[in-house]
Amino acid sequence: MDEIQTLYPEAYRICQQFAIDQNRMEEIIHRMTREMTMGLAKDTHPRATMKCFVTYVQDLPTGRERGNYLALDLGGTNFRVLLVNLESESTVHIDGQTYGISKSVMEGPGIKLFDFIAQCLSDFCKDHKLESANLPLGFTFSFPCKQVGIDNGTLVAWTKGFKSEGVVNKNVVELLRDAIARRGDLKVKVVAILNDTTGTLMSCAFHKPNCKIGMIVGTGSNACYVEKTSNVEMLPGYQTSQKPYMIINCEWGAFGDNGVLDFIRTRYDIEVDNFSINPKKQVYEKCISGMYMGELVRNIIVELMDKDVLFKGVKSKGLHERGKFETRFITEIESDEPGRFRNAAMVMDSLGIRTSNEKDLMCLRYICETVSTRSAKLAACGLVCLIRKMNVKDLSVGIDGSVYRFHPHYHRLLMENMNLLLNGTVRYELVLSEDGSGRGAALIAAVCARD
Ligand code: BGC
Repeated sequence: MDEIQTLYPEAYRICQQFAIDQNRMEEIIHRMTREMTMGLAKDTHPRATMKCFVTYVQDLPTGRERGNYLALDLGGTNFRVLLVNLESESTVHIDGQTYGISKSVMEGPGIKLFDFIAQCLSDFCKDHKLESANLPLGFTFSFPCKQVGIDNGTLVAWTKGFKSEGVVNKNVVELLRDAIARRGDLKVKVVAILNDTTGTLMSCAFHKPNCKIGMIVGTGSNACYVEKTSNVEMLPGYQTSQKPYMIINCEWGAFGDNGVLDFIRTRYDIEVDNFSINPKKQVYEKCISGMYMGELVRNIIVELMDKDVLFKGVKSKGLHERGKFETRFITEIESDEPGRFRNAAMVMDSLGIRTSNEKDLMCLRYICETVSTRSAKLAACGLVCLIRKMNVKDLSVGIDGSVYRFHPHYHRLLMENMNLLLNGTVRYELVLSEDGSGRGAALIAAVCARD
């Protein structure tokens, strides 16, 4: 780091703007707690940025759920259809198919999107001879949804790369059922709609009964947690509910949409936001998740190249193009052994920047580390906020998403920062949750079938 400061003072100065010290982390937690409280309470919910949606999932799995279920997973870069067989607590078979979603489907009319989903489901069922099996299906739909029941969710806004028209304000379960009915070639029972965070929590809880949080750091970012039903004012009859707990989908990506995070945002964050398809929305998510990390790094590099500080004399137009620096490059660059820059050189080469200047590559890595460290710090603030809100002293946190899964240091960075904030007061474990969107959807479908 000293070397960066001496050799690349300009880069150092930029990266300093991304630093968040413990005081600021505590301030973020404080503000997030306030926003959550607003989301949960009936009076303030309509103007809250963090909606804290009721999921209608009130039971965690017992580990005794069995049977065959279908799951649909829409929300990341791909769409998936899965057949989940819960055979025993230790044996879960998942057979799945991934389908790429074209930009025209992601951004076109909603009917086209749902016809595409139904088409994939139908092809999958035909391949597996399940057309008339009438299996229960869980729909993992990873966007902010206002639910009024386990199988009724209205899309509030698209996030990530989606902007399919005519879906916002509609019940997406109905859109799915209609699309299936239009085809008329298969029998399935759509029994539940869920967020990927809920699926992740359920999937983790199948093995770890003390799992109380599900978090995603992937294309987008979000978390859900187990709240006391008596605090869930948005649930009709919450005071007299028989069931003590409710999973709450925080939709923390929207934290900061009202300006409360401006004190930590940089020029680069604002630049990335301005050119996104949903400006001024999902502010916290844009500081954390995979859809934006690469773009933040790209903006910094381009500025330093334009100032002739980095990769001097190397001409590259490639990097000036938006989206060219993918978040997986950060993962690759940070996977280099200390003092080695093999991946870094390869990544830059693939972007048309041929260089063996190790100092430059060291600076590049420093920029990547800056962005991923800040992401992990912010995610750690979110987790600590939820842990303090629940006031639990021992828990597991189920986590999924490409950034957490593939970044070589993300897990360690999360732990370091959580340890700093929790200071030994809570025993916690961060667990990679295996396929929450598939297995979690099946578990919810199974839990629904149990009632
Ligand atoms: C969505 C959430 C989702 C998260 C992770 C966000 O953009 O709003 O519903 O859980 O991405 O996929």
